[in-house]
Amino acid sequence: MTARGVFVVNLLFLIGGCNAVYKRWIPNTDFNNPSNWDLGRVPCKNNRIVFPESAPLVYMQSNTTLMNIVLPSNGEIVLGDYVTLGFSDKIDTSATCRGGDANFNRTSAVQWVDTNNWCVTAHPDDPCPSTPAPPMLDTEKVPCKYDDVTFPKGSAFYVNLASKLLLNMKSLTLNGQGFSTNTFSAYLTSNMGKKQFVQNQGSSPTRININGDSCYDVTGCACGNDQGNVLAAVCAVQSSRCTSPMCRSALTPTGHCCPICGAVIELDYGAGFRLERIKNMISEDIASKKDFNSSSVQMMLSKLSSGKIQVVLLDDHDGMMAVDVGRTVTRKIESDIKGSRIYAVTTVKMQVSESMNTPSPQTGGNDVGLSSGTLAGIIIAITVCILLIAVVGFILMRRKLGDDFYKFRRFGSKKGFTMEMGATSGFENPIYGTTGPITDMYGPKEIKLNLNITKEQNGNESSLRGFDNPMYESKGAKDFFSDPTKTDPSVRFNPIYSTEGIEDDSKM
Ligand SMILES: *[C@@H]1O[C@H](CO)[C@@H](O)[C@H](O)[C@H]1NC(C)=O
Ligand SMILES: *[C@@H]1O[C@H](CO)[C@@H](O)[C@H](O)[C@H]1NC(C)=O
Ligand SMILES: *[C@@H]1O[C@H](CO)[C@@H](O)[C@H](O)[C@H]1NC(C)=O
Repeated sequence: MTARGVFVVNLLFLIGGCNAVYKRWIPNTDFNNPSNWDLGRVPCKNNRIVFPESAPLVYMQSNTTLMNIVLPSNGEIVLGDYVTLGFSDKIDTSATCRGGDANFNRTSAVQWVDTNNWCVTAHPDDPCPSTPAPPMLDTEKVPCKYDDVTFPKGSAFYVNLASKLLLNMKSLTLNGQGFSTNTFSAYLTSNMGKKQFVQNQGSSPTRININGDSCYDVTGCACGNDQGNVLAAVCAVQSSRCTSPMCRSALTPTGHCCPICGAVIELDYGAGFRLERIKNMISEDIASKKDFNSSSVQMMLSKLSSGKIQVVLLDDHDGMMAVDVGRTVTRKIESDIKGSRIYAVTTVKMQVSESMNTPSPQTGGNDVGLSSGTLAGIIIAITVCILLIAVVGFILMRRKLGDDFYKFRRFGSKKGFTMEMGATSGFENPIYGTTGPITDMYGPKEIKLNLNITKEQNGNESSLRGFDNPMYESKGAKDFFSDPTKTDPSVRFNPIYSTEGIEDDSKM
C-alpha cells in the first residue's frame, strides 16, 4: 500500500473512532518562507528588506546576506542555531536577483480558530495532504479535546487567540517542547509568548487547557467545539467561505458552518453501542451502491457535545446520492431497533436536502408558501416598478442637466471632460519595478549598515562581515523557546540593535 493509502486509512480510522489526530499549525513568520514576502519569493542580496511597523517576531533559519534593512522600532529577528546574518554593500551582478524592495507582509496575527491554518495528520511528522483529507466538520478541523497540537520546530508564529475562548487539547508542542496548562499560560506572559500569541485587548483572555486525555470510549469522543464561543468563533471565519449549495433545503450539520447537500442522521444509543459498528455498516452501504459512482459519497461521523451521534452524508454533486445512502442506512437502523438491536441504537432521525430540479412537494400548488405562479407575478411586478423608476429618473435628470447630460458620454468634448481608454493602471507605486536607486520613502527610519569599519578591522578584502548569532555564543537558540521561567531576561534577541557598525541614514 502506498504511503498515502496508509495515511488515508489511518485518518479514516482515527476520525471514525475517537477523533484523536495531530493538528499542526501551518503559517509561520519565517524569513525563508516565500509567502511572507510581497515579492512571492525570499528576498535576495539586491533587495532592500522592509519590515513594517507591525512586524512580528521573524525567524531566520539560514545564513543570509543582505544589503539594506528597514526595521520596525519594536520588532525582533531571531537567528537559528549556527546562523549568520551578513551585510554586504556589493551589488550582486551575477544574480538572477532583481533589486527593489522586499516587504515582509505577514503583518497581522492569524486566527487559531481559522480552519485553513491547521493541517490534520495521523502522525506528527506526516506531510500535509495536498489533496483534501476525508471531509470533516469545520469545528473538527481546528484542535479538539483529544488532539495533539504541534507548532513545528524551527519556526516562529503569529497566532491570534481572540478572547473568551476555552480551547481544550490533549497536548501542545511548541518548537519541540511539550507544555502543560500551567507552563503554557506562563509562556503566554513571557516576552516570546506575547510576541507570538496575541489576545484581544480588553476582554477576558482565551484559556488553553492541556488535558493529557486520550479517548478510549468505544461510543466515540466529542470534539467539544460544536457549541458556544468556539463554534461561533470558528464559523465567524469560515462562513464567508461557504459556497452556495447545489440543492434546495440545504442542511447545516451541528459543528459545521456551511450548508451541505445530502443527509444528516442523528442517533441516540443505549448500552452496547459501538461507533465502529455503525461506521462499518455505512461504509459497506456506500460501497455496495451499484447504481451510482459511490466513490463520491463521503461521510462525517462524530459524537456531538450533546452525546448524540451525528452521521453526515454528502456527495460531490447535488447530494441526491448521499440522500439515497442515508435512506438505506436509516431503514436498516429502524429495522434493527425493532428487531435484533445489534447496533444498540435507540432512536434515529434523518433530515435530507432536495434536488434542485424536482419540484418540492411543499410548493406544488397547495397553500404552503408561494406557488411558482405567484412568485413569477411578484417578480414581474417588481421589475416593472424598477423600470418605471428608472425612466422617471432619466427624464428628471435630463431636464435638469439639459444638453450637458450627454456630454459625459463624449470623449474629448470641448467642456474638458476627457476620458482616456486603456490607461487603467491607476497609481504607480514608486517602490515596485525599480531596479535602480530607491527613493527613500522611509526617511530617518531606514537603517543602513555601514561595513567599512569592520572591513578595516579585518584587514582583508572581503566586504562581507556578518553578525554572529549572539545566542550561539552564549546559550544557544534553543533557549529562545525554552521554558520561559528559565529564560534569561538579560539576553538581547536582536543583534541589529547593537550600535556597533550601524549608522542612521539620515546622518550620512
Ligand atoms: C504576501 O504577498 C504574497 C505575494 O504577493 C502573497 O502570496 C501572500 O498571500 C501575501 N501574504 C499576506 C499575509 O498578505
Ligand atoms: C553559516 O555559515 C557558517 C560559517 O560559514 C557555518 O559554519 C554554518 O554552518 C552556516 N549555517 C548554516 C545554517 O548553514
Ligand atoms: C467516479 O468518481 C471518481 C472520483 O470522483 C472519478 O475519478 C471517476 O472517474 C468516476 N467514475 C465514473 C464512472 O464516473
